[in-house]
Amino acid sequence: MDQTRNGKRACVLLIAGIPVCMLLANACADPSSNHAEVTTSALEAEGTNVEAIADVAAVEATSTAGQTQPGRNIFRFETFGDQAFWGDKLKLHQAIIGSQAGGVGAGISPKTALSLGLKVDVQALPRSLQRDITAGRVNLDDPGTTVALLKLNAVVGLTGYYNESGQLSSLGIQCALCHSIVDDSFAPGIGRRLDGWPNRDLDVGAIVAAAPDLSAISGPLNVTDDALRGVLRGWGRGKFDALVNLDGKVTRPEGGSAAVLIPPLFGLEGVGLMTWNGWGGIGVWVPLVIVLEMHGQGTFSDRRLRDATQFPIAAANGLDRTTASPDLVTANLAPLFAYVESLQPPAPPRGSYDVNASKRGQALFTGKARCSGCHVPPLYTLPGWNLVPPGAIGIDAFQADRSPNHGYRPPPLRGVQTRMKGGFFHDGRFPTLADVVAHFDTQFALALTDAEKSDLVEFLKTL
Ligand code: HEC
Ligand code: HEC
Repeated sequence: MDQTRNGKRACVLLIAGIPVCMLLANACADPSSNHAEVTTSALEAEGTNVEAIADVAAVEATSTAGQTQPGRNIFRFETFGDQAFWGDKLKLHQAIIGSQAGGVGAGISPKTALSLGLKVDVQALPRSLQRDITAGRVNLDDPGTTVALLKLNAVVGLTGYYNESGQLSSLGIQCALCHSIVDDSFAPGIGRRLDGWPNRDLDVGAIVAAAPDLSAISGPLNVTDDALRGVLRGWGRGKFDALVNLDGKVTRPEGGSAAVLIPPLFGLEGVGLMTWNGWGGIGVWVPLVIVLEMHGQGTFSDRRLRDATQFPIAAANGLDRTTASPDLVTANLAPLFAYVESLQPPAPPRGSYDVNASKRGQALFTGKARCSGCHVPPLYTLPGWNLVPPGAIGIDAFQADRSPNHGYRPPPLRGVQTRMKGGFFHDGRFPTLADVVAHFDTQFALALTDAEKSDLVEFLKTL
């Protein structure tokens, strides 16, 4: 008897409004589990409010993860109304549910979602569901399971919206999509949230390319949806091009993708200009991201985007100034900045670097190797107007010239271990820290010995 009740409760927790057999094909077929014929409507007849259970799970996830800050909730859960773009216009949710459920294509199963670099927040999953996943009783090849995970608010950086019959009808995105990962404590791609870590597994371009209607992006760029899909699929993991919808530059001069790596958000308090090419301070950059990249609904201004030579697409579409009523963005900015600026890099794992070598490396960093000339401790960027011309670091000017400020910013280096995937510099051109050091050794004619170079790398690993 008890078993039956437990079995039923497991199903209630699992379904979150989705017919249970879609989600738990194997468990429902399992004769020992005795709840094969339990359906959503049967449970609802029992007076079970499945929505409320999903809500409780979300609340638990928030409260168990540490003290609650308004800015953290904005970072993790606020869409700023951008579902009007990703869902209503691009219809990205249709690619998730797939043609079998009234959408398009094969649908995005949890396995596919994880392979695209999307992350699942284990703290949003009811324990019974965690147990069922562990036991292999959850069908991870079924897009319906992805919809159930969305309903639990468990897919990091994505929020689903539902119509009256409970079907996924729109989709919004959040900062956490690109700027959080999980600790993989439950399974690869499933774990506790780690905010501020760049998601270098995430294939943003492939995800956007899956949307059935790209005209809201391709139209202003004056390209076909298919041409745009080609560009998006060329971005690669951990990269995004926030400037293409402003300047229309889809490829670097030598032909590669113009997308840049998602940076970590650590040690940014006190840093002057944000982004690889120093677009502006946090208060300039983040509103642009919310309104022009995520397509949140709010008021935004940057008159530099009237420059039709540098930003032809932005100028032609009046992106220098937007208004929306109601404004879902502006009131969120101050708490969001406070949260982002409070993010601290993780301590380097014990044993991940050689202590003595790192001490020698630190002396080199501020001495013979002259790194601290641009990476000034403890900010590790230049205090003030923190840009240098491309020539100063010996690289091409392409990405620098896409910013109104025409330079590259010495990245605040803290949290180096969170940037280990995807390479270094804005486009990931240097695969390892040793390659970066070797580049600067040549560029600045430092004449570092091999031992000194490796000491410097050990020091970088401590930041
Ligand atoms: C689609 C992925 C994506 C989303 C969503 C996103 N960002 Fe970013 N973010 C990036 C990329 C890529 C860059 C680097 C841009 C560049 O240099 O051109 C960046 C840069 C930044 C920077 C500058 C970091 C530094 O070291 O200078 C901050 C701060 C930031 N984002 C905050 C946010 C916030 C806050 C949100 C939510 C409102 C957000 N981002 C949403 C991809 C994203
Ligand atoms: C003239 C200023 C300058 C000096 C000196 C300098 N750097 Fe940098 N550094 C930069 C800039 C600018 C970038 C970013 C390049 C880009 O955006 O592609 C950078 C990037 C890096 C990165 C890559 C960060 C990432 O996440 O991709 C590392 C690591 C680094 N520098 C370490 C060093 C070390 C070690 C030294 C000393 C040998 C040094 N830098 C000297 C300006 C400087």
